[in-house]
Amino acid sequence: MRYALISDIHANLPALEAVLDHIQRDSSIGATYHLGDLVGYAPWPDETVGLLRSRSIEGVSGNYDTTVATDYKHCGCRYEDPRQEELSHVSFGWTKAHTSAETKQALGALPFRLDVKPKGGHAAGPMLVLVHGTPTLNTVYWTEDRPDAFCLQMASIAGAKSGDMIAFGHTHLPWHREIEGIHFVNTGTVGRPKDGDWRAGYTVVELGDGPVTVDYFRVEYDVEKAKRAIEASELPNDFAEFLRSGNRP
Ligand SMILES: [Fe+2]
Repeated sequence: MRYALISDIHANLPALEAVLDHIQRDSSIGATYHLGDLVGYAPWPDETVGLLRSRSIEGVSGNYDTTVATDYKHCGCRYEDPRQEELSHVSFGWTKAHTSAETKQALGALPFRLDVKPKGGHAAGPMLVLVHGTPTLNTVYWTEDRPDAFCLQMASIAGAKSGDMIAFGHTHLPWHREIEGIHFVNTGTVGRPKDGDWRAGYTVVELGDGPVTVDYFRVEYDVEKAKRAIEASELPNDFAEFLRSGNRP
C-alpha cells in the first residue's frame, strides 16, 4: 500500500493545492494523511483546514494546531534568535485572531497519533505510526542527528517493531533512517521549507508485503501568490521572503 504523507502545511494554501494536485495524478497512492501544523505563518488557516476536510484527508495534531485550538500562551515552537521569537509571537497572535471558531474546533479534535495497518487489523504485519513531532510530545524536534538510542526509545514508546514505520514532521527537514529494521521518516514540509528549496514537499511511503520504500517529492507552486497575500496581511513580511528562499536567502 502506498501512502502520501503531507506535513507542516502552515496555512500555505497555494502550496497545499499544488501538492494535492500532484498526489492525485499518481493512481497508485491509496490514501493521503497529514501530519499536523495546518496553520500559522501564512494567511489561509480556515481555507487550509477546509480543503483538507473537503477531501476527507485525516491526520494528527501539530503543536500549532493544539496551541491555537486551546488558546495556549505560545505556539510551542523553537526560536533560533530573539528576532525569530518576536516574529513567531506575531504569527501566533495573528493566527489565533484570524482562525474561525469552527476551524479551532476542528484543530482541537485532531488525534495526537494515528496508526495505519496496510494489511488490515485482522492480520499481523507492518504498522505505520503517524505523529507530528514524536510519540511523546508534538513539540519535540526529532532531527536527523538524534542518536540511535533516542530513535529506538521513541519506537519502544510507540510500540513499533522491526518492519514498522514511524512518520513525523515538525522540523521541516526531510530525512529517513532505518535502525534495527524500524523505519524513521521525517516527511518534510508542504508550506514552509527550511532547506533552501522553496518548492512544496511531501513524501510517499510504501509498506506491506514487499520492501519498504520512501520517496520524497518537491512541487513548484504559486509562491508569488503566497508572498503577495502575506504582504497584504498584518503578518510579518519576513515570512514572504522566508517562503521565496526556503529560509536560505
Ligand atoms: Fe510543528
